[in-house]
Amino acid sequence: MKDLSKIELPTLSGARLDLRPWRTADAAAVAAMCDDLSVARYIPLPSPYTLADGEQWVGDAERKWRQDHWAQFAVTRRETGELVASCGVKIDVERHSGEIGYLVKKEARRTGVASGAVRLLVAWCFDELELGRLQIRAHPANTASRRTIEACGFQYEGLLRAYDVVRGERTDDVIYSLLPDDPGPGR
Ligand SMILES: CC(C)(COP(=O)(O)OP(=O)(O)OC[C@H]1O[C@@H](n2cnc3c(N)ncnc32)[C@H](O)[C@@H]1OP(=O)(O)O)[C@@H](O)C(=O)NCCC(=O)NCCS
Repeated sequence: MKDLSKIELPTLSGARLDLRPWRTADAAAVAAMCDDLSVARYIPLPSPYTLADGEQWVGDAERKWRQDHWAQFAVTRRETGELVASCGVKIDVERHSGEIGYLVKKEARRTGVASGAVRLLVAWCFDELELGRLQIRAHPANTASRRTIEACGFQYEGLLRAYDVVRGERTDDVIYSLLPDDPGPGR
């Protein structure tokens, strides 16, 4: 794995999407995107999600990369620059592996945003960071996320019982993984 202290968060560009570092000016758009019960149902974010929460998110992104090795990206449409999603990877430095997470703005769902963003992130993690494993966890009932994970070529590994706590309640998670040499649309 590469020495992360030497790596600046890049902009990752695909045909339709850019993944770029967060900017201070994104705070209001983040708040609008994240103040959504369908997100709060599966992700432990504040609800309601306020402008102050958005400001904290964008303001903390650089520190999270430097200290926690958590790379967070704004996902924007190439043609318009519109913010449509958030995605990121938290790197486990000891294991040379990473865990991906994402959410997509309600109005932008079912247009290939999450799967497109995950593919760009996967390429960066394997080709640039030289990680040896990626994983994604989801609530078992989160069909949209599970379909996204499968569409990106991740393989099902199993059920993690009472693994997470969302809004004070313990929940199961399913876990999927992708390795650099796995076949399929993930690469
Ligand atoms: C899960 C989520 C990120 C999916 O984003 P998206 O941009 O709509 O996903 P995509 O358009 O890239 O779709 C990827 C695949 O999932 C399928 N899919 C997406 N939403 C679906 C839904 N509600 N029901 C069934 N399938 C769905 C798509 O058909 C596509 O499959 P295909 O490639 O085989 O056709 C989005 O629904 C979301 O933000 N949900 C709330 C937050 C969340 O749950 N985050 C994940 C936590 S683990």
